[in-house]
Order: sequence, then structure tokens, then C-alpha cells
Amino acid sequence: MKEAAFPEGFYRVGENGYFDGVDLGALAKKYGTPLYVVSETSVRARCAQLREAFLRRYSNTRVYYASKAFQTLDMLRALKDEDFGIDVVSGGELFAALRAGIHAENIIFHGNAKTDEELRAAVQARVGRIAIDNLEEIFRIEREASIAGTRQALLFRVTPGVDSHTHRFISTGSLDSKFGIPLEQSETERYIDALKACPHVEFFGLHFHIGSQLLENTSHLAALKIVLDFAGRLSKKYGLEVRELNMGGGFGIRYLPKDSVPSISDFIDPMMAFVVEWSSREKLPMPHCAIEPGRWIVGEAGLTLYKVIATKAIPGIRTYVAVDGGLGDNIRPALYEARYHAEIVEASPDAPPLSDRRQRTVTIAGRYCESGDILARDIKLPEPGAGDILALFSTGAYCYAMSSNYNRVPRPALVMLRDATARLSIRRETYDDLLSREM
Ligand code: LLP
Repeated sequence: MKEAAFPEGFYRVGENGYFDGVDLGALAKKYGTPLYVVSETSVRARCAQLREAFLRRYSNTRVYYASKAFQTLDMLRALKDEDFGIDVVSGGELFAALRAGIHAENIIFHGNAKTDEELRAAVQARVGRIAIDNLEEIFRIEREASIAGTRQALLFRVTPGVDSHTHRFISTGSLDSKFGIPLEQSETERYIDALKACPHVEFFGLHFHIGSQLLENTSHLAALKIVLDFAGRLSKKYGLEVRELNMGGGFGIRYLPKDSVPSISDFIDPMMAFVVEWSSREKLPMPHCAIEPGRWIVGEAGLTLYKVIATKAIPGIRTYVAVDGGLGDNIRPALYEARYHAEIVEASPDAPPLSDRRQRTVTIAGRYCESGDILARDIKLPEPGAGDILALFSTGAYCYAMSSNYNRVPRPALVMLRDATARLSIRRETYDDLLSREM
């Protein structure tokens, strides 16, 4: 009997949890724990949804996957196969994207502090777009492009000055932000002068990204209005046409069963309607539109498996359930107070079946030497015990990507699932790996 549950693709057969048709307890046994599990099936289903809701619905559109959310060669190859573009933010991400066979033309390069080496690599590879974050960068790209004998297409990443309703560490669009170009008249003129002085760069349009894990479309729409006003001014005052408009990512996902989030169309349709209306009202050509989702594509496609190591009941206070991973593989609760849902997906063979246990409110603690290393606070589970296998859901985005070796704990292995089969995508780090760069 299959019983639908959160998140999509997770269900139980008897007491055991399955994801994308694969027995999670069996995965834990075969590959060890902690274990990152990412369903390529779910990733591709999200890509199909984006094709329907955006790429096929509106002409001259493009999706760039914000690969910082989860960048592995396997993931990049899947996105290439889906014909999506890739957003990279470093020389390392660029290197991996090219290595995975992503066509340079389909890459957009972002960053507020791109080094000379990174700009050179991007220009020489002929990336499709570089998103400019400051004035100096225009001249630096001009230099590289003239050496490379090419003309580099640029977007201006602008700061619309909109506060997004999300954790302040992942909000990027407000005026006081290290990201983006402020839309001040005097600044604009300096940028326009720079473009005039630089024959090897070509202005294509504007980019904005206002924050991540947004659960309503209001900030996107407010930002869009401001950016389109600016586009109108660029065109009318300076004769600079915005041929392309990149509206960033930030579309929220579900972390807890009770979470309800807007559909992707709830974000996209009003934005596109706004651009269409603007273009006809201002009698300006409709720009090509792009979005840059990261979390929305991969977040719910991932989960992490842990083994329960120990439990500790502090009478009258709380019960801690300590697992074999934590902030080294998922720093998000410690960094953003992120909340996660967890379930026991296989009972320890030495412990009673889940159906014989009492429901308990427990706190899942990580193994790292840090009091803030708590993976899930106050969640209800059938009383966990050592040896149980626990799944933490919606860990596909910004967990592997932000992992560390704190306490010299090796990073977990990563398994990709596709159509009910699992394959090892990244092997577990070894102790030797941990020492391999030390002289
Ligand atoms: N485009 C740009 C320019 C960005 O800066 C970002 C994310 C994205 C797209 C993708 O945003 P998404 O669709 O994934 O929300 N480490 C944080 C998230 C940081 C996001 C940074 N920028 C977290 O774990 O929540």
C-alpha cells in the first residue's frame, strides 16, 4: 500500500520510507550515513514544469539554473540535457559547468567580486552573459575582451531597493546591499559613459534578484516595476535598449508539511503580464525575459539520511536525538534558523517497530561541536532510538553546496535517483582526502 506524503516522491511501504521508488533504509545500508539523496526524476519534473509555465508559454524566454544551489557534474549534465542555461558565480563553478559540457553561450557569470583570473576565464570561454555588479568591472572586462579579440555581452545587475520578506542573510535586493548597482541618476551616467568608452563590451539588458525563499510574489512585482521604470529611462534618455531582462530566482519551496507556497505560475504570470503591459504602454520592444531559479529546481528533490547515534532525555526540558551528521552537511538551521521536517524511514533492527512506539516531541541534534548544530527542533516522531535511520527532507538546495569539514568530519556521499534506481554520484570523503592538500 502506497501512502502519499510530504514531500512529493516520498511514501512508505509498510514502515519503510521510499523516495522516487527507492528503499531509503537499503540506501543507508549500501552507501552509509549521512547520505545525500537527490532525485533526478524530481529535478527533471521541475524542469518540465518550468518549460510549461514559462518557456513554452512565453516566447523569447530562458531559464538559467542558479547552480550555486547544488552544483555537481551529474546535476549540470541533467540540466544540459534539459537545455537550461547555467548561472555561475565563481571560476570554480564556471570550470565545472564547462567540464560538464555546458555550452559557454548558455552560461551567465555573476558575482560582486570577480577576480581578474575569473573574468579572463569567462571572457576567454565566451560565456553568453556577464552580470556586472560595479563600474570598474566594465573596464576590466573591456581589457580582457580586447585581448581575447571578442565582444562580451553584459547585463547590469541592479538593486531595485525592495525589501523582500525573507531571512535578512538571504535578502539581496534592498538598497543597502553588497549586490547590484544602485539606480541613482548620477551612477547611471557613469555606467553609460563607461559603455561608450568600451567598444569590446555590449550592453544587453538588466538583471535583478531580490532574495531567496520568497513565499509571495509581491517583492518580485515591486522590484520589476522599479526596474522597468529604469529600463524606460535608459531607452528614452540614453537610447539604450534593454533587450534582455533577467528577473533572478528566489521562488520559495516547502520545508515543512504545513508549508504552502505559491505555484511557479503565481510568480511568473503576473511578472510577464507586467512586462507585456509595460512594453505596449511605453511603446518599447518587449525584452527577452529570463529567470534564475536554484532552490525551486532542486530543493525538494533532495533529502539527507542520518543514523541515530544516541538519545538524551533532559527531564522537564527536552529530548535530544543525536545523529551522525549536522552542520557540516547542512549549515542552514545554524545560519538562517531554517526549519526542517524529519521522519524515521527505517527502524533499527534491534528496536521495536515504529507502530509500537509512543509519539514523542524531540529535537534532532547534529554531531558537531557547536550548540547551534540543531537540525530540527521540537518535532513529533515515534520515540527514536539508536540505529534508526532518519530522513531530513527538502535538503536538495544549499546543503551539499555549503558543506564543510568542520571537526574533520568527511563529507557524505551523494546518491542520485532516477526512475526507481540509485547511482553513486559523489563518493564519501575519506580521512586521506581530508589530509590530501596538507604539505
Ligand atoms: N540569482 C542570483 C543572482 C542569486 O544571487 C541567487 C541566490 C539565485 C539566482 C538563486 O536563488 P534561489 O532561486 O535559489 O532562491 N544559501 C542561502 C541562499 C542564498 C541565495 C543566494 N543567491 C540558503 O541556504 O538559503
